[in-house]
Amino acid sequence: MKAVIPAAGLGTRFLPATKALPKELLPVLDKPVIQYVVEEALAPSAVDGVVIVNSHEKPQINEYFSVDKHFEEYLRAHGKSKEAELVHEAGALPVSFAYQDDPRGLGHAVLCAAPETGDESFFVLLGDYFVPEKQMCVHMQEVSEAHGGASVIAVAPVPADQVSRYGIIAGERVESLSGIEGAADEEPGAVWKVSGLVEKPSPEDAPSHLFIVGRYLLSARVMELLRTQGPGAGGEIQLTDAMARLLEEEEMYAVVVDPNEGCDTGTPAAWAATNARMALANPAIRDAFIEGLGGARV
Ligand code: UTP
Repeated sequence: MKAVIPAAGLGTRFLPATKALPKELLPVLDKPVIQYVVEEALAPSAVDGVVIVNSHEKPQINEYFSVDKHFEEYLRAHGKSKEAELVHEAGALPVSFAYQDDPRGLGHAVLCAAPETGDESFFVLLGDYFVPEKQMCVHMQEVSEAHGGASVIAVAPVPADQVSRYGIIAGERVESLSGIEGAADEEPGAVWKVSGLVEKPSPEDAPSHLFIVGRYLLSARVMELLRTQGPGAGGEIQLTDAMARLLEEEEMYAVVVDPNEGCDTGTPAAWAATNARMALANPAIRDAFIEGLGGARV
């Protein structure tokens, strides 16, 4: 099974930085965001390779994931074998590329990976959001296996007054993740059977307070549906529109996750907050980070 990482977007919310640097290569501490995503994608045992959907305008992403023997040898020759190993690790990850040269939306980006995913189910992980503990997709695989290979999405609770910013699920809670008994319906660990997907509902019309967080395990049928999917919101080919059609044919489940389990990097504020969270959680740099904040106050 392949994991697909769409990374061909323009990153307009991060201009001017993204004029010359793809958003997905922005560092969180010492590593590009997309490397966290690739490492997370490889955590579920079913995944045997990662397909990054890139644009030819962003060759830096291909460069980052290619082997650079010359640089590795240079570092080793200068007594920097630990650093050489870090360079080697990035180039050794099982990554291949598909291309979307016109960013026509997330659904279109996913469809561009169809030759690589074949007739198997596949994961989709957004390229600007990562889960440090890497367990979200592992849990999604568990739920899918318990339901005959059904599609599974990750959802998280959102305050009622914010539902109109997100894709919200309809459905009913059917069980809990194993080992997390007793979670309330919209608490982490609950598993729902999805009956509908509503894009940006008003608070009165929202069928739940659970929004789709950017992790999908989808049946191969979604690729077929994407081939005939017309433009939706914003004139873009939306993945959620094809998933809504999938629901007419197949079962779909949702795992409720803690919104703090994942780290967003899609805007300057989210990226800065993610760096702060990761710095505070890293014992090797925590103290220096706090000291570097000087007198800054929250
Ligand atoms: P975003 O909407 O966050 O990325 O999509 P964007 O379009 O690059 O950002 P803004 O809105 O202009 O600031 C989430 C992920 O999906 C990819 C993006 O690269 C990002 O990693 N994506 C989005 C595609 O690959 N193709 C698309 O057509 C749209």
